[in-house]
Amino acid sequence: MSTESASEYSRKNPFPATLTVNRILTAEGSNKDTRHLEISLEGSGVTYEVGDSLGVFPSNDPELVEAILANQGFSGEEQVPDPVGDIISLRQALTEKYILSEPAKQILKALPEKDESAEFLTDLLDPGEKGKLADYLWGRDVLDILEEFTAARFTPEEFVKVLRKLQPRLYSIASSQRVVGESVHLTLAVVRYQPKGSRHLHKGVCSTFLAERADGAGKVPVFSHTAKHFRVPENTDQATIMVGPGTGIAPFRAMLQERKATGAKGKNWLFFGEQQAASDFFYKDEFESYQAEGVLNTFTTAFSRDQPEKIYVQHRMLENGADFYDWLENGASFYVCGDAARMAKDVDTAIHQIVEKFGGKTEEQAREYVDALKKEKRYLKDVY
Ligand SMILES: Cc1cc2nc3c(=O)[nH]c(=O)nc-3n(C[C@H](O)[C@H](O)[C@H](O)COP(=O)(O)OP(=O)(O)OC[C@H]3O[C@@H](n4cnc5c(N)ncnc54)[C@H](O)[C@@H]3O)c2cc1C
Ligand SMILES: NC(=O)c1ccc[n+]([C@@H]2O[C@H](COP(=O)([O-])OP(=O)(O)OC[C@H]3O[C@@H](n4cnc5c(N)ncnc54)[C@H](OP(=O)(O)O)[C@@H]3O)[C@@H](O)[C@H]2O)c1
Repeated sequence: MSTESASEYSRKNPFPATLTVNRILTAEGSNKDTRHLEISLEGSGVTYEVGDSLGVFPSNDPELVEAILANQGFSGEEQVPDPVGDIISLRQALTEKYILSEPAKQILKALPEKDESAEFLTDLLDPGEKGKLADYLWGRDVLDILEEFTAARFTPEEFVKVLRKLQPRLYSIASSQRVVGESVHLTLAVVRYQPKGSRHLHKGVCSTFLAERADGAGKVPVFSHTAKHFRVPENTDQATIMVGPGTGIAPFRAMLQERKATGAKGKNWLFFGEQQAASDFFYKDEFESYQAEGVLNTFTTAFSRDQPEKIYVQHRMLENGADFYDWLENGASFYVCGDAARMAKDVDTAIHQIVEKFGGKTEEQAREYVDALKKEKRYLKDVY
């Protein structure tokens, strides 16, 4: 758990937790499979604070493991070293210890020696060809490249040497421990996609592990990952503006639980965005109850695909720019969580535009204003 915690469990020694709730949040007609998960921490002593993430060590999909074993003519019982040198069966190594999704550079280096049709990979590994290498790897996993270079045969030991160590994934915690006790809630987007040119469905390792394969006592190795940079305001009178499209909603569910439990007097304004209100309005009843109780003062939604033109959270921020600026002027802290690649950048642009337009500032002054928010730790991000 968190580094300050007294628990014996940590990233190095994860707690074998039990998944107790696995509920689909998306309804029929959705393009997504997003889940509400609850994981029991009973007896672990693992603690977390609102804003922290949960680390999860996944296992690979057994179907993918069996397909790779069959491709190479392995039984799975062969003994091989794991990444720390312990000797285990190849099946266990491929299931629990090594990455089977993104092929490592080592396998690309090894393939031309085993199949001459793989010679072009040597050129792709040139440091000047990073873009071409990324294009080649996009949507290809280890099984895809074994199926592409049919002459390539590895020994079991050679094979694990060209794989990298499986890493844990982080998930923003969607609960306050003050409210849920020895439990932790997550909001999980399940990753599944069918790349052109691949013969099999690709499944995100950890998201499908949690959604499809984690049932059973003690099956989910977890640890708490402290996020000191992403905390509810210490001053409970301070207002918050929270922007959390998609699974970015997770820490704000936790913050609202916490603000209610502590009787915080500060106002709360939540922006949520997803594709369609009918199928993707996660935690609708909970948020509407918070509104009715006065815990959530303003609740603004942006359903991007409910009309011909896209409407995103930043469009709603701009539409409500006068109030938004007013909240900032009155000391609100601004939080954003979710997609780092596009959403968080566009939301950042929007906040600059709001300060310029509604604060009557130049571009330069708006930049200084937003920089000051960051320095005062009133502009906090948890993006991925
Ligand atoms: C601090 C933090 C908090 C997070 N919080 C959450 C959260 O609350 N909820 C949540 O669901 N996730 C969250 N994530 C993301 C999460 O950690 C995982 O990255 C996510 O679940 C995917 O992991 P996976 O193992 O299922 O997928 P992986 O096996 O890692 O596969 C994902 C990879 O697949 C590839 N890919 C995906 N789609 C396609 C496609 N269509 N075509 C080709 N390639 C594709 C991409 O390369 C992508 O990186 C968070 C991440 C961080 C760092
Ligand atoms: N690493 C991975 O494989 C993986 C897996 C799952 C999720 N993710 C990432 O996790 C984050 C959350 O995913 P999610 O499925 O929960 O939600 P998401 O993809 O972020 O979508 C949530 C909402 O945000 C909208 N959106 C798209 N572009 C936007 C932009 N530039 N600005 C503001 N809103 C925008 C979407 O609209 P439209 O869809 O209509 O455009 C949708 O309405 C994203 O980073 C996603 O890429 C990564």
